[in-house]
Amino acid sequence: MHFKTFALAALTATTAVASQVGNAIVENHCPFTVYLWSVGGSTGPKQVLKSGGVYTERFHRDPKSGGIAIKITKVDDGIFNGSPQTNFAYTLTDTRVFYDLSDVYGNPFSGHKLVVDPSDPNCQEIVWPSGITPAGTLTRDCQNKSDVKLTLCA
Ligand SMILES: *[C@@H]1O[C@H](CO)[C@@H](O)[C@H](O)[C@H]1NC(C)=O
Repeated sequence: MHFKTFALAALTATTAVASQVGNAIVENHCPFTVYLWSVGGSTGPKQVLKSGGVYTERFHRDPKSGGIAIKITKVDDGIFNGSPQTNFAYTLTDTRVFYDLSDVYGNPFSGHKLVVDPSDPNCQEIVWPSGITPAGTLTRDCQNKSDVKLTLCA
């Protein structure tokens, strides 16, 4: 009986580890505060990232939207007042995570380098040297255990 309980617990633990996926990370290296929301089928709470602040979320699928957009502005409540926003978006599929970077309503980080850097060195970075979309930017993808980090003002 005791052994059975233990074996079941061990099995559960193994399953949890095996299905673990990586994280989306945003590091604010800018000398100013930014505001961030994780948006899927609904909008998550506002995160205030001071200079040096870090935001992390485990990759997940949204039951309605599928993909997630981490929306970042330099203006408080920026996604509710039409301020320029940078969207760090990802979609977790059965085996991979797809990620990209885009701007809407302007370029909040114009003049500041943005880098999306997967922890798995086999996967490709996205680099915006001057904070605006370089021509020909593509969606990248990586295995689902890799973290993918966006550095603001890299
Ligand atoms: C992650 O990818 C592996 C295959 O590389 C897959 O077996 C596993 O189910 C995936 N995990 C999730 C949570 O999607």
